[in-house]
Amino acid sequence: MILPIVAYGDPVLRKVGSPIDADYPELEKLIANMKETMYNASGVGLAAPQIGKAIRVFLIDASPFADDEDLSEKESNVLKDFNRVFINPQIIKEEGEEWIFNEGCLSIPDVREDVLRKEKITIEYEDENFKKHTEVLDGLAARVFQHEYDHIEGILFTDKLSTLKKRIIKKKLENISKGKIKADYRMRFPNIKKGK
Ligand code: NI
Repeated sequence: MILPIVAYGDPVLRKVGSPIDADYPELEKLIANMKETMYNASGVGLAAPQIGKAIRVFLIDASPFADDEDLSEKESNVLKDFNRVFINPQIIKEEGEEWIFNEGCLSIPDVREDVLRKEKITIEYEDENFKKHTEVLDGLAARVFQHEYDHIEGILFTDKLSTLKKRIIKKKLENISKGKIKADYRMRFPNIKKGK
């Protein structure tokens, strides 16, 4: 089932997510619905707060990036298979140089901005069977993870922009929260006035 994606301005996007365990009700169904929702919106990642649940769960399928001609064959191969469910993830270490990438977010349609993030991360997480994994990610795989990880910490990529950039996009963000935006997928807007 395709779930509505929560738009910028909804308080759930600002909550720090709670960890979950295997007793979380209907987790399998939730993950299946999140996958369907992500693919329907052509996203490469979707975090639980974006469908209204403040829990530490997100999905990534970065395979659409694998076709980018600028990537090395090695990075392209990593991205092709970078399709996972992350439960209770943690960033153990962030290292390397900060680099710029033009990010977007399904909760903030039509806004894309350059964001600086460190290039390499060491992560721990549980998969959908609650098996523990430790991994080192770099490049775009690390980038997508960092973006989704921010979601479960209540952080959005627009928080990371300069004061000037924030001022420039302020009106656009307000409009998104009011539903004055056209997205190709179902959304839920926090500030639509009743009766409209
Ligand atoms: Ni996002």
